[in-house]
Amino acid sequence: MNIKKIIQLSLPPIFLSLYRQVIKKKAIYRVTPKSHQDLEMYWSEDFAKVLDTWGEGNVWDEIQLLMTARKGQVLDIACGTGKTIELLSKFLDLNIYGCDISEVLINKAIDRGIRSNTLKVCDATDLPYGDNEFDWAYSIGSLEHFTEDGIEKFLEECSRVVGHASFHQHPVSRSDKNDGWITSTQSYHNNSVEWWLGKYHKSFKNVTVLDSAWQDEISLGKWFICSN
Ligand SMILES: C[S@@+](CC[C@H](N)C(=O)[O-])C[C@H]1O[C@@H](n2cnc3c(N)ncnc32)[C@H](O)[C@@H]1O
Repeated sequence: MNIKKIIQLSLPPIFLSLYRQVIKKKAIYRVTPKSHQDLEMYWSEDFAKVLDTWGEGNVWDEIQLLMTARKGQVLDIACGTGKTIELLSKFLDLNIYGCDISEVLINKAIDRGIRSNTLKVCDATDLPYGDNEFDWAYSIGSLEHFTEDGIEKFLEECSRVVGHASFHQHPVSRSDKNDGWITSTQSYHNNSVEWWLGKYHKSFKNVTVLDSAWQDEISLGKWFICSN
């Protein structure tokens, strides 16, 4: 297989192509079985800029449709710069909270006008919220970047803090095979719907899978709608 083909097959998930444009250098991709979460980029100013545009025309429309006509407390898990919280602020019956591991990104959310007392810097695998504190939660373009153990803990925590249902958008493999852990600027799991359902069903009884319009060469976006 030539190098171009390898690069095509390894093209990354949601943010990497945009991120490459921003940093203007070529990333080296490789697929390895060993999973580990890269966190460094989430403190980067350049990455914060990518988060301001990446979901236009697809996931940002979709989350608005999913949250339309709902009421109550909502948690955006791994909210990044708070772009989605800003978009959803038009729904006056929702009180939206956000959390993220990166203080740099949370500060960007505060800069865009989101009240600091609705935001927390924390680890999504160990949420500092009470049981059933939220009616709804969502995560966008985030779960795929966690380790397998992290995914399971994230979903367990989400199920604990959410009363009604949660919505999770991320890529699955276009081939419906388990490609495993793709190591790139922002490493991620590129696995089948079935693989993901195995993770979701450890914490949720009911899981519905819907298409997302986001896609790239090796992945398709999906929404996993979860409740118990
Ligand atoms: C690709 S970004 C998506 C951000 C946001 N959801 C959006 O759509 O713009 C992934 C996010 O996950 C956050 N993150 C990664 N690991 C985390 C962890 N263990 N706990 C909480 N947030 C985490 C990162 O800081 C980053 O904001």
